[in-house]
Amino acid sequence: MSTQTSTHSAKAPRASRTYQIAVIPGDGTGPEVIREGRKVLEAVAAQDGFRLDWRAFDLGGERYLKTGETLPASVLNDLRGMSAIYLGAIGHPDVKPGILEQGILLKLRFELDQYINLRPVKLYPGVWTPLRDKGPEHIDFVVVRENTEGLYSGVGGFLKKGTAEEVALQTSVNTRLGVERCVRFAFELTRRRAKALPAPASGRQAGKKLTLCGKTNVLTFAHDLWQRVFNEVAKEYADVQTDYAHVDATCMWMVKNPEWFDVIVTDNMFGDIITDLGAMIQGGMGIAAGGNLNPQGVSMFEPIGGSAPKYTGQNVINPLAAICAGGMMLEYLGEADAARRLEQAVMQVTGTKLKSLAAGKMGHSTSEVGDLVVRALNG
Ligand code: IPM
Ligand code: MG
Repeated sequence: MSTQTSTHSAKAPRASRTYQIAVIPGDGTGPEVIREGRKVLEAVAAQDGFRLDWRAFDLGGERYLKTGETLPASVLNDLRGMSAIYLGAIGHPDVKPGILEQGILLKLRFELDQYINLRPVKLYPGVWTPLRDKGPEHIDFVVVRENTEGLYSGVGGFLKKGTAEEVALQTSVNTRLGVERCVRFAFELTRRRAKALPAPASGRQAGKKLTLCGKTNVLTFAHDLWQRVFNEVAKEYADVQTDYAHVDATCMWMVKNPEWFDVIVTDNMFGDIITDLGAMIQGGMGIAAGGNLNPQGVSMFEPIGGSAPKYTGQNVINPLAAICAGGMMLEYLGEADAARRLEQAVMQVTGTKLKSLAAGKMGHSTSEVGDLVVRALNG
């Protein structure tokens, strides 16, 4: 995580080193993993001498079922004043699919203009991957997913709904501004990673490579714009090697040759899909973290798996993804050292303590895994 997020833009002034963190535990196992994340973040803050002021917001399925509210304007307003947002999970079995996702998660991303969804895909030591013959030296890349446009924009509609002639339109919106800021972020990140990465281990290509993932052979308007913007911006980054892969081929290479990737930049929908594949090759939803970034505003950090309702309240869910999301948050807040030590502690735990990353199979409970990370930090 230490090389992956922007560090120049946290809202709280670094001198004070007190950060106002909005915490949204959310639904299902969200509260359990957030509890462990806070435990670890408090431990690292105590070591490093900074402060986290937590303010909890009860958004999610329960609130919706009780009050009909998803994300009230007053809450959104309060969130705008925070240093960062730490989110557990949104999704409730008794709420129709789409309501909470659109009303809370996507609305937060859109309203706070979190235009980057940053998703590291990194195989930690000791973690099982379904890719035979691949190890941590092969799987270490980052997906930069555009997070406010594309097919997620909500532009579209029905014609003659419910009839035999029904038409459904769902339009992919790609703006010059939206594509360019995303592509620029990806180039900057690639450059930063190249500076921070150790000399490439065998099998990995040297850093400094940015791959545009698209579908230029079919999406000849939207992805033509992406390709043109990518090529233009590339001229300003002569030190960054560039590449292009269609999204279907990207899926193939992620499985066959994940070491080919360093940073991948892509649109919202493709980014959604390939990052679930990415989560699987890095050991599953128990470890996959992401950041919804607005480098000029308020960013939000979350484990990318869902609310896992069937495991709720059993103390069996893996909290490492939430803990890693907390690490990304620290880096974004400007606490890069703390973020690095947190990641090292997680790597020590995966490398030496856990039987598996799967819920109920870790050989430890949720809270014990949090304790193990704290002990690794202090050890
Ligand atoms: C994700 C999720 C969300 C998305 C859903 C829950 C709306 O799959 O964060 O990847 O599609 O972005
Ligand atoms: Mg997804």
